[in-house]
Amino acid sequence: MTSILAISGSLRSKSYNTALLRAAQAQVPPGVAFEIATLHGIPLYDGDVETREGFPAAVLALKAKVRAADGLILATPEYNNGIPGVLKNAIDWLSRPASEMPQVFGGRPVALMGASPGGFGTILSQDAWLSVLRALGAHHWVEGRLLVSRASHAFDQDGALVDEAVRTQLADYVRRFSEFLESGK
Ligand code: FNR
Repeated sequence: MTSILAISGSLRSKSYNTALLRAAQAQVPPGVAFEIATLHGIPLYDGDVETREGFPAAVLALKAKVRAADGLILATPEYNNGIPGVLKNAIDWLSRPASEMPQVFGGRPVALMGASPGGFGTILSQDAWLSVLRALGAHHWVEGRLLVSRASHAFDQDGALVDEAVRTQLADYVRRFSEFLESGK
């Protein structure tokens, strides 16, 4: 079984990025387990907390899921043309302690996707992730690209994907990322 952990970078209950991951989950090929994680419960990174108390339970739980996954998908919103703090904060926690980073992120395939109500579909945020993925030593999967613009039209009020062109693109993206992961096993 190939396993994908898909992390939504938005805490919003009506998040387009979480909705995008739910739509991706519905497209998963046979033999692939696809789990969606949200970042509820992860506190702001504080080096004093790390030193005094160690790692918060929510961080340890997410880290265990990352380590168990063959590949990650990050569904990233775009805030002020960059990475939203919520998602960057979680990745920063996961990158600690530095001695464990090779086991958590080193060489682990990571695919990016994102949805925005604007016209550029998180392109600047996805580009901003490139230097972070490099710092983590992750394997950024670059064979696919998924930018969902005009998200308020692509999803209905209940968060269901209603844009058939995006659905086709998403299915292709998930299939090809899954095949990539399977080929590396
Ligand atoms: C945004 N939004 C936004 N969108 C975008 O395409 N480019 C941007 O630079 C920004 N900047 C921005 C800053 C802040 C502080 C907020 C709160 C929002 C809009 C953003 O894409 C929109 O709120 C999405 O709905 C966020 O993703 P979720 O929560 O739907 O997954």
